[in-house]
Amino acid sequence: MRITTLIEDLAGDNKKLKCEHGLSFLIEVGKEKILFDTGETDKFIWNAESLNIDLKRVNKVILSHAHHDHCNGVRKLLAHYDIAPKFYVSEHFFKDGNKYRCTEEGKAHKYVGADFDEEFLSNRRIEIEYVNENVTKISDDVYLFANFDRNIDFEKNNHSLRVKKGNEYIIDKFEDEIVVGLDTKKGLLLLLGCSHPGITNIIETIVKRTSKKTYGIVGGTHLIEAGERRIKKTMQYLKNMDTKILGFSHCTDEIAEKMFEEEFEQFYANRTGSVIDV
Ligand SMILES: [Fe+2]
Ligand SMILES: [Fe+2]
Repeated sequence: MRITTLIEDLAGDNKKLKCEHGLSFLIEVGKEKILFDTGETDKFIWNAESLNIDLKRVNKVILSHAHHDHCNGVRKLLAHYDIAPKFYVSEHFFKDGNKYRCTEEGKAHKYVGADFDEEFLSNRRIEIEYVNENVTKISDDVYLFANFDRNIDFEKNNHSLRVKKGNEYIIDKFEDEIVVGLDTKKGLLLLLGCSHPGITNIIETIVKRTSKKTYGIVGGTHLIEAGERRIKKTMQYLKNMDTKILGFSHCTDEIAEKMFEEEFEQFYANRTGSVIDV
């Protein structure tokens, strides 16, 4: 199994690859090529081509949540290749997809949702599987986790991220968030999109639901919105888990990355072009 980060906010060792604020992973397992998120633009396609990866053979697309920086590459993918991969999104993806960045008080200043709707996919005869179970197996070693518990007291909803319902802007609870779990020989490798429900809420829910050992956690953590206290509490939680890989990306931020780097031997900054073979 190989996991390639096709795009992320920053460059890794391969300086030729393009970067943007966004995230996209390619999971290659057996004969399958599964995209987990698509970044904001067509740069992930450019990067794949430059890495000699054939995205024409992508047969599944999973979207972590309905934010532009994870989803707006979808239009580009379907314009670039004549393909109709099966899509996996939360049942809340379109229902609560009218997402805005607002002031703390709820005054909208920017649409931050996806740039396509359900019809756009169905017009292309794309099959959509709406994920609503806590755990969904989509392939031999690939699981999707959803419906995360919110029992961690230091992780709160971000009041500036909201969903427009009628004339109101309601605090986004990110019920659309999906996390990928890859069942590897070494244990469960978790791929995170943005972790809006809180990385600790997410991990704790998954640990409770599965008897498998967590081998690694890779992807967006949204610790960018966390203060030092929350970062330290998250670190404390992950210390007790003994994972072999911690590879944070995207919405993690320099401060949190530095703190993790100092405390965790297994930590690395997961960048554009990073590859995990497992
Ligand atoms: Fe994001
Ligand atoms: Fe997000």
